Amino acid sequence: MCGIVAVVGKTQVAPLIVDALKRLEYRGYDSAGVATIHAGELGRRRAQGKLVNLENRLKDEPLPGAIGIGHTRWATHGVPNETNAHPHFSGDVAVVHNGIIENFAELRDELIADGYLFISQTDTEVIAHLIERELKRGSAPVEAAHRTLKRLQGAFALAIMFRGDDNLVIGARNGPPLAIGHGEGEMFLGSDAIALAPFTNSITYLEDGDWVVVRRDSAAIFDADGNAVERRRQQSQGAAYLVDKGNRRHFMEKEIHEQPEVISHTLAHYLDFANGVTRKLDLPFDFNAIDRLAISACGTAYLAGLIGKYWFERYARLPVDIDIASEFRYREMPLSARDVALFISQSGETADTLASLRYCREAGMTIGAVVNVRESTIARESDVVLPTLAGPEIGVASTKAFTCQLSVLASLAVRAAVERGKVSPEEEKALVRQLSETPRFANQTLQRIERQIEKLARELSYYKNVLYLGRDTNFPLAMEGALKLKEISYIHAEGYAAGELKHGPIALIDEKMPVVVIAPYDRIFEKTVSNMQEVAARGGKIILITDEKGAANATVETMDTIVLPDVPEIISPIVYALPIQLLAYYTAVFMGTDVDQPRNLAKSVTVE
Ligand code: AGP
Repeated sequence: MCGIVAVVGKTQVAPLIVDALKRLEYRGYDSAGVATIHAGELGRRRAQGKLVNLENRLKDEPLPGAIGIGHTRWATHGVPNETNAHPHFSGDVAVVHNGIIENFAELRDELIADGYLFISQTDTEVIAHLIERELKRGSAPVEAAHRTLKRLQGAFALAIMFRGDDNLVIGARNGPPLAIGHGEGEMFLGSDAIALAPFTNSITYLEDGDWVVVRRDSAAIFDADGNAVERRRQQSQGAAYLVDKGNRRHFMEKEIHEQPEVISHTLAHYLDFANGVTRKLDLPFDFNAIDRLAISACGTAYLAGLIGKYWFERYARLPVDIDIASEFRYREMPLSARDVALFISQSGETADTLASLRYCREAGMTIGAVVNVRESTIARESDVVLPTLAGPEIGVASTKAFTCQLSVLASLAVRAAVERGKVSPEEEKALVRQLSETPRFANQTLQRIERQIEKLARELSYYKNVLYLGRDTNFPLAMEGALKLKEISYIHAEGYAAGELKHGPIALIDEKMPVVVIAPYDRIFEKTVSNMQEVAARGGKIILITDEKGAANATVETMDTIVLPDVPEIISPIVYALPIQLLAYYTAVFMGTDVDQPRNLAKSVTVE
């Protein structure tokens, strides 16, 4: 996802903007740029690749000016090169943009017919030319920007500057987030609170359709029709997240090891460990009065939801429909106001998930959101927020957010079971105690298996394809393991229900296809042993992730067996997420990929 920073400041802003953009690196990008106004003139420096390239460019050719806009670009239209990097200019106008202008082709044709020349392949350049054309037609800058905004269709967050006015930046938001940072005699715009944290923690988030006229001493917000509006000014947590890697090589490594702590924080929010009960949550619905839970999410968050489905149906006897968000609203699932829609999202900004939320809102459903960013759009558009307390997750591959999502869903499923009268007080106490042991088992697991997994990963890094198998809640976990591996090591991997092996994937099995089997010893373990025997009989290499009893009963030769502590069934998916995260992490380290910012990926996908 692209990142935007703007400063209407008191000192030289180019270095400040680059530092703020660094705090947005976690979003993923492939080029960057900054523009300033100095002595009435627009200046610009851009660079392909990482921000260090832009910094070097600025060292060679400094860019003076006390007002500026900056951008990290994740390519949507046009290859990631300097020409396509933002800011984009047209005459007196400089623009940075996050999102997609859906009607950019027709606007581009219109502008070409008006004699405008396009230098880049981006949709953003259309915006710069449209504003410039409005200026030429006699509009003042603010009016020119407002008239242009009305022409744009699609998702956009913008920051706009005008040659000759070093006390004006215009911001706009329709989809991707944009926040105002309130300073003393200076003002800021940023994609989120983390970007603005070095400047201020006094933040105002714009709503969709808002645009804002920012000057050193003011920020006047307007709605799409140009009516002045007020938005809540808040003290952001962003400043607390002056994140760094500590003594770890990567954010992902740090975040994997933070899990025992953040799982504990998250569980404690929903469970009263001392009294062995689930907390009564201030929910806008009664679990005992709903017919169904409709869950929708993307990627890893979706796989957390898939595991949650097993828990809600097993413990609370509550039917759950679940879909990946990009399919959810198009398959036209029958929806009822008697259902609750639950959205799971680490960033709270994923466009597909947000679009599904709005689709359910239109159907009159009550909306719940399991999110990691309380100030996010999905959080703000929900009737109830069920927070994960993972802290900011910087690595693009989701790890601690995933296990915290599972912690929320497990706690919620037990709460639902209580409210629907499906578990006795004694059973509730037992389940809460088991959940309360998750941080301890997570800690034990990390300590017990990390070195063995690091060694195994070196071997795995030589393979081109890997199959992950699991049954029951280990089936979604197998898919998550495959997703982790492929998204950071670029090795193709696939997660499959172990019982499905015979129905096709077994054709893939040979000595070049390692098979990771996630199988704690449980009531269906023997069935998975049969699957492993089928794999072994065809020369497949098995990596078994199990517990003591599983290791003792797995009558099959394995490439390696990772033995975890014996854990209660309900917390097994949370604890078994750790070895699959570590396996992906160390494999990627051996592959030498960019572990925290894998190619082509963004931390939050705010375009559909
Ligand atoms: C997870 O490792 C991926 N980076 C990705 O699938 C992610 O889970 C997905 O894009 C959803 O993001 P969200 O949780 O912020 O909505």
